[in-house]
Formats: sequence, C-alpha cells, structure tokens
Amino acid sequence: MVECEGKCESCQLKDSCPDTKKLLAQQDAKIRENMKKIKHKIVILSGKGGVGKSTVTVNLAAALNLMGKKVGILDADIHGPNIPKMLGVENVQPMAGPAGIFPITTKDGIKTMSIGYLLPDDKTPVIWRGPKVSGAIRQFLADVVWGELDYLLIDTPPGTGDEQLTIMQSIPDIDGAIIVTTPEEVALLDVKKSITMAKMLNIPIIGVIENMSGFVCPYCNKVVDIFGKGGGEKAAKEFGVEFLGRIPIDIKAREASDKGIPMVLLDCKASEEFKKIVERIVEKVEGKKD
Ligand SMILES: Nc1ncnc2c1ncn2[C@@H]1O[C@H](COP(=O)(O)OP(=O)(O)OP(=O)(O)O)[C@@H](O)[C@H]1O
Ligand SMILES: [Mg+2]
Repeated sequence: MVECEGKCESCQLKDSCPDTKKLLAQQDAKIRENMKKIKHKIVILSGKGGVGKSTVTVNLAAALNLMGKKVGILDADIHGPNIPKMLGVENVQPMAGPAGIFPITTKDGIKTMSIGYLLPDDKTPVIWRGPKVSGAIRQFLADVVWGELDYLLIDTPPGTGDEQLTIMQSIPDIDGAIIVTTPEEVALLDVKKSITMAKMLNIPIIGVIENMSGFVCPYCNKVVDIFGKGGGEKAAKEFGVEFLGRIPIDIKAREASDKGIPMVLLDCKASEEFKKIVERIVEKVEGKKD
C-alpha cells in the first residue's frame, strides 16, 4: 500500500495530493519493471458471481503448466480469495525480504499470490473499502517477486468494479481478457457489461467461455441443460468476439476442485473440453493463428 507519510489524512482518496501522485508514479514504474519479465498477462472476468472464473483460472494455469510453461496466478479477489483452496495450498505464508514478497509455489510449480495467504484463518473476512483493495492489488503487481514467467493469470471477483479497473489500468501490456459465463439470461446480462468494460479500457478480448453448459447425468448419461445452452456463444457473436467453447457441469470436476485438484488433471468430459479451449487460447495469445 502506498502511504503518504502522514502528510494528509486518507491520502489514497485524494487524487490531487502531490505526495500520493509521486508515490503512485513510483509504484507504476515498479509494476512496469515487474510485469516486463512476464510474457503474457491474462485477466479472467465475469459479470456474475459463481460462474467459474476461479475454476477457469486454475485449470488454465494447470493446463499451461502441463505444456511446460512457467505460470503464475494472481488472486485479485480480495474479499473472496478462493485460489489457495482450489490449488490445495492452504495454511502457508509467503516469505518477504528486501527483494519483495515471494509467491507461494504449488507442488506442480505454479507460483501464486492471494490475500488468502496473508489472513490468519479462513474465517477472517477482509473488510476494506475500494482504495485499500486497489492498493493491495497494486502491491501484488509491484512487490511480488514473480520472476520470469510465460503466463500470469489474474482471477477477479464478479463485476466491473475496483479490482477489474485496477488490474486493467495498472498492467501496461496486458494480453487480454477471458470472459466466463453460464448460459442463462441473467448471467448474460452481466457478461455483456464485462465485455463492454474491457472494450472501453482497450483491453483485447481473447474470448468467451460458457461454463456449466449442460450436465451429463451419471445414471442415464443424458445431457440436461440446467442453465440452458448457447447463451455464451450468442453474446460472443453479438459483440464480435471469439467463442472459445463450452465446459459441462461435472461432479468429478467439482469434487476434485474442493480437494485442490484442477479438472484438467482428471479423465472426464469437462477436462477434454477444457484442454481444447486452452490450446486455442495459447494459439491465439502466442500469435500462431488469428
Ligand atoms: N464445470 C464445472 N463443473 C462442476 N463444478 C464446477 C464447474 N465450474 C465451476 N464449478 C464449481 O462451481 C463453484 C463456483 O465456481 P468458481 O468458484 O470457479 O466460480 P467464480 O466465478 O470464481 O465464483 P466467484 O464469483 O465467487 O469468484 C465451485 O465450487 C466450482 O468447483
Ligand atoms: Mg472466484
């Protein structure tokens, strides 16, 4: 967090304060330096909560890691940090030194940072207003020793608020956004706002993923479209962005996620679909194909 050395109260809120301006500019320079070492930066967005952003982030990271890429995950969901649990790395604390804060590395070699690692337990909420939340995210970008990475994936909370704005405005050469949605109309209403926000901030949209798209009944093998189908594709078309694919609801995937195992490591339909989507994302981001 940038401090104004007590020269004015709640300095963070006063854009006109020269001290704050200077310190923010210094932090911007640190963010630029830190982010320069990371080849690709991708933010995961959705308008609505619970549609699978964190699931997509963790699985994208695990799939990239399987491909031999060096991957990091920044959990920018300050009020609801789920990444530590989904990666199975709870009850660990990051080390700090003169170089900065060292990320937690999973047993598979994925580097991660989350406010969840800094809380005393999983019952303690973060009760912060917007400027403090933005300050924490900027500190994760400036002061975490990410090192050389191929990909940094940034998981966000739902909506178009402080966290998304901070990420999109603070990372200078972000590759783009992946928008996650479920197929029903209510989710689609919100997804359109995320697409519009990214466009307004000149952030390229890598594509839309429709998650929880159909459920394969484990008893009769019939597909039941609990949330409908095709809404994500329709929204992508409407905005002229790529539709990356559908991931079905999979009980095995959810059970594994609760145990900190990404679904791409399982043998199931959701994993198959996910791998196809990841291949396309890599192709697109690394510029092999348009
Ligand atoms: N395709 C899927 N099949 C089965 N379960 C899924 C699938 N996608 C996500 N889930 C489960 O749904 C729940 C919500 O997913 P997740 O936490 O990734 O959503 P989110 O968009 O990140 O939520 P929030 O808005 O709260 O951050 C999790 O328990 C996750 O394991
Ligand atoms: Mg989440």
